[in-house]
Amino acid sequence: MKISVIGAGYVGLVTGCCFAEVGHEVICTDNDPAKLKVLESGRLPIYEPGLDRVIEKARQKKLLRFSGSAAETIKGGDAIFICVGTPPLPDGDADLSAIDNVARQIATEAQSPKLVVEKSTVPARTGQELKRALAVYSRKSGVKLSVASNPEFLREGTAVEDFLHPDRIVVGVEDESSEKQLREIYKPVLERKFNCPVHSPACPDGPEPKFLVTTINSAELIKHASNSFLAMKISYANMVADLAEKLGADIEEVMRAMGMDPRIGSSFLKAGLGFGGFCLPKDVQAFIHLAERSGVDFNMLREAERVNVHRIDRFVDKIREALWVVRGKQIGVLGLAFKANTDDTRFAPAIALIQRLLEQGAKVKAYDPEAMERAKELLPNIEYCKSPYEVAEDSEALVIATEWDEFKNLDWDRVQKAMLRPLILDGRNLLSPKDMKTRGFEYRCLGRA
Ligand code: UDX
Repeated sequence: MKISVIGAGYVGLVTGCCFAEVGHEVICTDNDPAKLKVLESGRLPIYEPGLDRVIEKARQKKLLRFSGSAAETIKGGDAIFICVGTPPLPDGDADLSAIDNVARQIATEAQSPKLVVEKSTVPARTGQELKRALAVYSRKSGVKLSVASNPEFLREGTAVEDFLHPDRIVVGVEDESSEKQLREIYKPVLERKFNCPVHSPACPDGPEPKFLVTTINSAELIKHASNSFLAMKISYANMVADLAEKLGADIEEVMRAMGMDPRIGSSFLKAGLGFGGFCLPKDVQAFIHLAERSGVDFNMLREAERVNVHRIDRFVDKIREALWVVRGKQIGVLGLAFKANTDDTRFAPAIALIQRLLEQGAKVKAYDPEAMERAKELLPNIEYCKSPYEVAEDSEALVIATEWDEFKNLDWDRVQKAMLRPLILDGRNLLSPKDMKTRGFEYRCLGRA
């Protein structure tokens, strides 16, 4: 099938590349010429494990191309996936102007019937607005444009895996032909009829993905409600961590046991510096606004957000307590990305934490395996190091701000010798307190006495 993708950010790029991977013919556009130039030269503007192999294969098979022309892209596909950004407005609501803009372009350029699929995360009822907008903009041409919602559940760092091996595919549709078209598009994924670029030689057995057909409103709500629920789980774990610390319990033991209850589930119960990234914080805010606008008092979401913002204050207090005076001290930070396996620093707890340390007069050295280039745009005035050992050299505290595997397996004796004061503040509970103490570190973390 011929598929168009508008927007080559994380979602659009992964979507376009993976559709090509499973055999569709994909054309993708973006309004950022610099990004397109990078893509056209065969490179990737983001770090996403496995995506380089997928894009390379798709290009060789001539199933994926990029175009600077939205018109060419729109004309080139039977289904058009809208993957443009919906950033937060100053009041936290989602800015949907890019979607409106794309609707106008589609209605103007389309010369044959198209299925317009919203993949960008949007508040419920956006599909209705999109439908209305498409009807207005296509009044003169009269071209048939159907609307569907197909929310993404792609985690950065495992997005290719999530796309090709999803647990569920949700499609919100208004008619049978849209459902049929989307079933056809996802057929190779549902039937696992592709040579998986992630697993070799064979994909692990697992339950087949569920294909859920809903209304457009429900599909939109499923996405926002899912992300907000995950955010609440994290904030809940973080509050229990605070309590565990006061009571002399160990949050890791508590959450492990809680997670064994299938009614609760073990994921998203990891206590630490809180949730960041471009999705969870913005989706929670937009969901709060949606509830407010709809006259529903969803205060527990506000609380989850407040708890999350407070994580940084709490950790800064911990650092201050350990260092006595922060001003003038050299603090090393391991990790800048908002989570492991990505180079994304947007709304990263690590960045917020460093900003607070700088405000208090600390000198900061930092290292991240992938995110340093991006961090430089947000934090131009800190020292970037080539390795964790360089960060440790003469530091009076070493903060772990992102849970990269690399940090678990450092030569900790070397780190211990390099530091001025062997003090570790583990914002991700990545290390074993017992092991660190045996190696001669002062070790502080979250939710473990
Ligand atoms: C999220 C959703 O998970 C995904 O389904 C959606 O489509 C896009 O948004 P992503 O932004 O990649 O994905 O990050 P995610 O894995 O959800 O993590 C978000 C944040 O929560 C990270 O900062 C992470 O470190 C933090 N987190 C996650 C915790 O603090 N504890 C946990 O237990 C899990």
